[in-house]
This record gives sequence, C-alpha cells and structure tokens, in this order.
Amino acid sequence: MAKCFLPLIPLFLIVLLLAVAVSESKAYSTTTPFEGHKPEKLSHLHFYFHDVITGDKPTAIRVAAPPGTNSSAVSFGVVMIADDPLTEGPDPSSKEVGRAQGMYVSTDMNMLSFTMVFNLVFTEGEFNGSTIAMYGRNPIMSKVREMPIIGGTGVFRFARGYAQARTYKLVGLNAVVEYNVFIWH
Ligand SMILES: *[C@@H]1O[C@H](CO)[C@@H](O)[C@H](O)[C@H]1NC(C)=O
Ligand SMILES: *[C@@H]1O[C@H](CO)[C@@H](O)[C@H](O)[C@H]1NC(C)=O
Repeated sequence: MAKCFLPLIPLFLIVLLLAVAVSESKAYSTTTPFEGHKPEKLSHLHFYFHDVITGDKPTAIRVAAPPGTNSSAVSFGVVMIADDPLTEGPDPSSKEVGRAQGMYVSTDMNMLSFTMVFNLVFTEGEFNGSTIAMYGRNPIMSKVREMPIIGGTGVFRFARGYAQARTYKLVGLNAVVEYNVFIWH
C-alpha cells in the first residue's frame, strides 16, 4: 500500500517549489525613471496662521515643560501641541483654508526659538485633502523665518520647498503669522 503514495511525493515537492518560485518572483522593490516624478510646477500659497494659546478656545496647548521653565526667559524645553487655523486673511474670522497640526518646542537656550514639526492640512479649493510637511527652526523674534517643506501628500506628493513666516500681529501670547509657502511638486 505504501508504495502507491511514492509517485505522489515528487508531485507534492514540485508544487511546493513552484509556490516558493512564485512568491520569490514578486519584487521587493522596483525602480522607475526619475522623469515620471519630476516636479512640474511651483505653487505659491499665502495664508495666515493663528496660534491661540489663551482665552476660551485655545488651539495650542502646553503639554510638557521641564521644572524651572517659568523662570526661563526662553521657555527652554516647553512642548506645545497645536491644531491652529489657517485663514485667507489676517482676520481670524476670514475664510479657513486649512489647519496647522503638529507641535512646536522651545529648543534654543539663548533666544526664543522653536523647532516646528507641522502638517499643514488644506481643506479648500484645489488643495483640499492634500497636506504638506513642514519642519524647521523658527526664531520667532526675527522678522522673517524660513522653514523647509520636506514632503507632502495628495497633489503635493514629492513636494520640496520652503515657507517664510512673518509675525503679522501679537496680542499677548496669541499670534497671527503671515505665511508664504513655495512648493515644487
Ligand atoms: C508655570 O506657568 C504655567 C502657565 O502659566 C502654570 O500652569 C504652571 O503651573 C506654572 N508652573 C510652575 C511650576 O509654577
Ligand atoms: C473637501 O474635501 C472633503 C472630503 O472629500 C469634502 O467633504 C469637502 O466638502 C471638501 N471641501 C471643499 C470646500 O471643497
């Protein structure tokens, strides 16, 4: 009886080998010519960023701070999390075009300067649903601060560029900041 099964064994092995061969032929990576992903256009975005820390409806909250922060002139070590509105005009009630979601952290021991880690999420017009990733240094007392745009999603896939921030208005700790963003995508 046992002999009847012998011819079946090689067949079983062949099936097994084929299965391995099939899964091995699935490429781990593929590379296509750069031409397919070359940036095609330069978009210039202009909007206002509202960082509201005080009042009834703050959009940025302090989540962590080391001991002694309150006596530090530069708030070194403070971590803020924000979901700040981005609007068309400087007035907070003007049309909202997106949100700045992320965090900023005081990371300079000698001057007031933040490391910014933000996703700018657009909710209006041709950029609705697309995001850009902004990461950089923001010495907020400087007239113009420049931060890199390091990527994006949606229409901003493969994005590269920079953002320029200028404080438009400061009311107590709440700031309205004008942004000009230039993006290759
Ligand atoms: C520091 O200031 C914050 C905000 O004003 C306050 O909530 C916190 O209790 C203060 N911390 C200390 C240790 O005084
Ligand atoms: C933006 O996209 C969302 C999701 O697709 C949609 O619900 C919303 O109506 C769009 N907003 C505008 C202003 O087009």
